[in-house]
Amino acid sequence: MNTVSTLTREQTLREMGLGPVWKLREQPVRESSLVGGCDEVLVSQDASSNDWPALQSTVLDCRLCTLCQQRKQAVLGVGDVQADWLFVGEGPGADEDEKGEPFVGQAGKLLDNMLAAIELKRGHDVYIANAVKCRPPGNRTPTDEELNSCRPYLKQQIAMIKPRLIVTLGGTAAKTLLQRDEIKVGSLRGQVHEYEGIPLIVTYHPSYLLRSPMEKAKAWEDLCFMRRTMFDLKQ
Ligand code: URA
Repeated sequence: MNTVSTLTREQTLREMGLGPVWKLREQPVRESSLVGGCDEVLVSQDASSNDWPALQSTVLDCRLCTLCQQRKQAVLGVGDVQADWLFVGEGPGADEDEKGEPFVGQAGKLLDNMLAAIELKRGHDVYIANAVKCRPPGNRTPTDEELNSCRPYLKQQIAMIKPRLIVTLGGTAAKTLLQRDEIKVGSLRGQVHEYEGIPLIVTYHPSYLLRSPMEKAKAWEDLCFMRRTMFDLKQ
């Protein structure tokens, strides 16, 4: 784990509007939720091949849904391909579509600060991906069809990275991995779910936190929870 100076961490917490460091009173409740069948075999690659260039080029050329029509480029993901931590957002926005990297706009700035608050850094034992790889026009929520088309790519990324812990940022990422129709982040957070045997924690999307700063306190609880969960997973 990277070390971040106390000052930086305090600055980070201030940036998140969280003030002093909070201590959690409760222990995590462990919950296994069965993941529904996600059998798409559109990515023919063998997970053990770890062929990132092949996956990148498949995604860049993808035309499985209409999101390809307005994208500047598909955005596969960024970071350490052997990371313990995998963070999954919803889909690229305008900045990400332009730069080809997830979470590089305002939400990305907040995500970086959230990572720093638990002594993590983009690219260092952390990989960041999205539920869909192409920007939904006007940043609308991806449809079920778009999520279904893109899920095999995320599934392939997970199979190759083999993270110890997946963190879904917002309801859309939770929906695509937990295969549920209705996702309420508020009722799924604070528990350890599971995606194909990998522990999965649900928290708020940074864009939502930018719109609803009062929820940052809960996001801080979630950060502490995920850090504690990772600690337990490494024992
Ligand atoms: N929001 C997301 O969900 N992903 C990004 O990459 C950027 C903003």
